[in-house]
Amino acid sequence: MTDTPRIPYDVTDLGQAAEGVRRIEWADREMPVLRLIRERFEREQPLKGMRIGACLHVTTETANLMRTLKAGGAEVHLAASNPLSTQDWTAAALVSEYGISTYARRGEDNSVYYSHLRTVADTHPVLTMDDGCDLVSLLHKERPDQIPEILAGTEETTTGVIRLRAMAADGALRFPVVAVNEADTKHLFDNRYGTGQSTIDGLLRATNILLAGRNVVVAGYGWVGRGIASRMSGHGAHVAIVEVDPIRAIEALMDGYQVMTVGQAAPWGDVFVTATGNVNVFRREHFETMRDGAIMANSGHFDAELDLPALRAMAEGHIRDVRPNVQEFEIGGKRLHLVAEGRLVNLGAAEGHPAAVMDLSFANQALAAEYVAKHHQELEAQVYVVPKAIDAEVARLKLASMGIVLDQMTEQQLEYVSSWQHGT
Ligand SMILES: NC(=O)c1ccc[n+]([C@@H]2O[C@H](COP(=O)([O-])OP(=O)(O)OC[C@H]3O[C@@H](n4cnc5c(N)ncnc54)[C@H](O)[C@@H]3O)[C@@H](O)[C@H]2O)c1
Repeated sequence: MTDTPRIPYDVTDLGQAAEGVRRIEWADREMPVLRLIRERFEREQPLKGMRIGACLHVTTETANLMRTLKAGGAEVHLAASNPLSTQDWTAAALVSEYGISTYARRGEDNSVYYSHLRTVADTHPVLTMDDGCDLVSLLHKERPDQIPEILAGTEETTTGVIRLRAMAADGALRFPVVAVNEADTKHLFDNRYGTGQSTIDGLLRATNILLAGRNVVVAGYGWVGRGIASRMSGHGAHVAIVEVDPIRAIEALMDGYQVMTVGQAAPWGDVFVTATGNVNVFRREHFETMRDGAIMANSGHFDAELDLPALRAMAEGHIRDVRPNVQEFEIGGKRLHLVAEGRLVNLGAAEGHPAAVMDLSFANQALAAEYVAKHHQELEAQVYVVPKAIDAEVARLKLASMGIVLDQMTEQQLEYVSSWQHGT
């Protein structure tokens, strides 16, 4: 039997705490940077007395961030940032093992979701930590009297940063927010290495195909597309890139890939992955020329990169599930396949980012909280990017955790690169 915790909470089942602890500890093994920060926080207590209101996905990785903030001396209250992403075992472990007030139940409806956010707001946080700007938005709309108590906030994702920038542009944002999403050690790892690997993970879990020797088309050669292309190529696939930006296209070509138009790629490819952030990259005319057996997946944010209404209309009455997460569309005797309904394939058919990727994102969160504790008086009500020094520190700690030591410039080199007087 679990003792009744003495902190406020609302979770589904405290009985799942032991399972949560096992999973949180497993994730922790892959999060050495956050662990190094946690150890320093324990010694230095940089967040002592700070009340943090967090609205994040309640996952094992987030649990390790919460542990780090608590180790730094903060009092933390956590609500879910999405009703469906909560892991009930993690929520249970946070409450009964780690003593962190958590308000999150997987599948909670909208009214419970917002009541949890209000409970966090009731604790009068001085720092907000958001993933999608819901807490900041609620405080601005419903608790204007609390705003003067708030030193600053941090924001995890692109969507949240877009909302915050819109608030700042309207003059509506009333406290400073640090955009963790903008750190290089966040988007570089997350979009390129995290999505690159987990997209392939999702595709393989769903289809179990052999990639070696296959023609793979990647639409978009941005951070995500580069990661997918390099991992596909590593599996022995022939990779072609579809791009609209000439610089990205020439980069793809110099990286050793073929570059094609969508029209050229459609009859060439065996597998198609979209990562453009755009709509209807593959459309009716392309589905018409694709080969029998072609497989399509999307790793962009919305399920709009493939023209699914057209695909469904073309195969009306001839659509069936052939494996979990794989739908077959029969069009004139030819079979086309769609993975994870065209939604983010790495989340729909796999487990999203590995903990090692979240390690860097959440290291930025923890250091941003420390930065706010030290520098809030210098900050104004606007959106700040993560200071370069924090970004560099996260990269340095990651290298240190892998036992890699970085070179340093000699005195002579430092003088050389900072002087304009040296010539040929
Ligand atoms: N699956 C995930 O977990 C995950 C993680 C991070 C980002 N994303 C999403 O992936 C998408 C791409 O992110 P990114 O960081 O690579 O963005 P990015 O802006 O770096 O790259 C997008 C690329 O797509 C190209 N493009 C745009 N329209 C195109 C078209 N019609 N045809 C071909 N190419 C086109 C652009 O020129 C650009 O080079 C976004 O929707 C982003 O939200 C998903």
